Amino acid sequence: MAIYKDTPGIWRKDQVEAWKPIVSAVHDKGGIFFCQLWHTGRISTKDFQPNRQAPISSTDKPVKTQTPPRQLSTNEIPQIVNDFRIAARNAIEAGFDGVEIHGAHGYLIDQFMKDQVNNRTDQYGGSLENRCRFALEIVEAVVNEIGADKVGIRLSPFANYMDFGDSNPSALGLYMAESLNKYGISYCHMVEPRMKTIGEKVECPESLVPIRKAFRGTFIVASGYDREDGNKVVDEGRADLVAYGRLFIANPDLPRELSLMHLSISITGKHSILLILLLAILTIHF
Ligand SMILES: Cc1cc2nc3c(=O)[nH]c(=O)nc-3n(C[C@H](O)[C@H](O)[C@H](O)COP(=O)(O)O)c2cc1C
Repeated sequence: MAIYKDTPGIWRKDQVEAWKPIVSAVHDKGGIFFCQLWHTGRISTKDFQPNRQAPISSTDKPVKTQTPPRQLSTNEIPQIVNDFRIAARNAIEAGFDGVEIHGAHGYLIDQFMKDQVNNRTDQYGGSLENRCRFALEIVEAVVNEIGADKVGIRLSPFANYMDFGDSNPSALGLYMAESLNKYGISYCHMVEPRMKTIGEKVECPESLVPIRKAFRGTFIVASGYDREDGNKVVDEGRADLVAYGRLFIANPDLPRELSLMHLSISITGKHSILLILLLAILTIHF
């Protein structure tokens, strides 16, 4: 369920139909279009829930300004995993090239992974392995449904705003990278440790490099990148791709702008150009 008014969805057939011309328009322009599958969990209010119920989460611990959540029982979890599977199927039916599972920024999947949120005592809580179980079950279900080459995941182990930090984010990121290798997904997209809160870039000693080395697929980094910084991270082998957020929103022709800048720079023989993605920001409703 959403947190913002008018968030688009992909859980109903009419929504699938409504997406088709939009996806086509992107394809007609040569774009690659992945659909981000998002469940907000406790980052929601009853105003956005069916029958004004409490939002669901791994926990019943509230986040300020949001409606206190209801902790999912163990036997309800397979239904949520299945909802991600259905949303992924719907996205492919709508024509998307793939889906990005939103496991970042304190939303439902993150609420299971992070030990400052998850206080469960069942097989989805406690150890790192248990806390990551929900995320990996979703990955497995989605991979089985649409194929690993059409699946990516976004993670932010170091982010900690809205009370969703983890006591050992490096271990969490590493465990996820190693576990994801089993599924052969298309990419892992990770938010840099320097972006601990939305929009605020801070100096920090942590690095994604060990996680990048552990993950055997395409590794995408994000947060606070400009052109020079983006080229550097790719040149130094610390990422395969860079995702741009605010720069892209402000400049819909950002790929062209960066590539034109590249032409002038390449005359001096410097740097390689980056590939930029993304994406449809969607929510899936449960
Ligand atoms: C208006 C806005 C909406 C965003 N929505 C999402 C979202 O739906 N999913 C997501 O993973 N990140 C979302 N983000 C975060 C961005 O993807 C990105 O991680 C963040 O802006 C930092 O990268 P940047 O410095 O390149 O902007 C959003 C950011 C902004 C500014």
